Amino acid sequence: MDLSVFDLIAEQMKNFSVKMELVDGVPLPDSTWEMWHQFWNFQAREDDILIATFPKAGTTWMQEIVDLIMLQGDVEKSMRAPCFVKVPFLDLNVKPLPSGVEAANVMPSPRLLKTHMPIKLLPPSFWEKDVKVVYVARNAKDCMVSYYYFQRMNKGLPDPGTWDEYFSTFLAGDVAWGSWFDHVIGWWNARDKHRILYMFYEDMVEDPEREIRKVIKFLGKDVSEEVLQTILHHTSFEVMKNNPMANYSVLPSVVMDQSISKFMRKGKVGDWKNHFSVSQNIAFDKEYKEKMEGSGLTFREEL
Ligand code: A3P
Repeated sequence: MDLSVFDLIAEQMKNFSVKMELVDGVPLPDSTWEMWHQFWNFQAREDDILIATFPKAGTTWMQEIVDLIMLQGDVEKSMRAPCFVKVPFLDLNVKPLPSGVEAANVMPSPRLLKTHMPIKLLPPSFWEKDVKVVYVARNAKDCMVSYYYFQRMNKGLPDPGTWDEYFSTFLAGDVAWGSWFDHVIGWWNARDKHRILYMFYEDMVEDPEREIRKVIKFLGKDVSEEVLQTILHHTSFEVMKNNPMANYSVLPSVVMDQSISKFMRKGKVGDWKNHFSVSQNIAFDKEYKEKMEGSGLTFREEL
């Protein structure tokens, strides 16, 4: 890929201010909303693999894992392009780059694709083609903290304001891709109706080898122990942090300013404890209990 395209994006970002538009009640970047027809009519293929997540749940980590499984652990090939180029992000529409949909349309099969959409906004062709979906969920408190730092450094998203302001914004579901609650519960409720592997970030941190095995099994792949160890190593936090194809460092700082916060920031479970005040935690837990009641879905906020 010709990386000079990022200079054009950088130029454009100088006068850029993102706005949100509602699609069926879900706030999305206006650029996504502008290509809604194209997005909704996206044509999935039977052998696609889709990674679906609420933002900051470990999307890039899962992308690297699945890509390496598909490549039988070929690290050199996995570094063929930045993660956001090799795995089209269907919801993204940043000119002059091709939209995520356009990039996917010209990609040979088997394709690995990414979306942050809540399940109700997933293009219907994914269900028609019975595509395998790997969904990664992460506890809300750590997602909130990670998203806060991400919105500070990613100029394609609104400035999050202060932490106290963001706390309310996130809880109200007023962030890009909407309510964390609706997202994790929506996908959870669909997991037995479709080919969905529902994974938890906390499980991946606790025992990545065990969790990678689950993905391999779900994808129906045969992977040797040696390849598994290669995948495990190459997708560890430290290795990904230093991998320019995985850590978004190829993007200019007007797009992602990593001097504000690294994309590969901490990779921990429980960092929320360094950010939530006692009263915020009480308010959060109260709302959480109400919203998650009866969902049958439980998260670990610490290991
Ligand atoms: P933090 O901001 O808490 O560090 P996404 O890819 O969905 O945007 O998620 C980004 C989050 O996943 C960041 O969380 C990032 O550090 C974390 N992450 C990425 N790769 C990881 C890995 N190999 N191990 C643990 N966490 C990882």
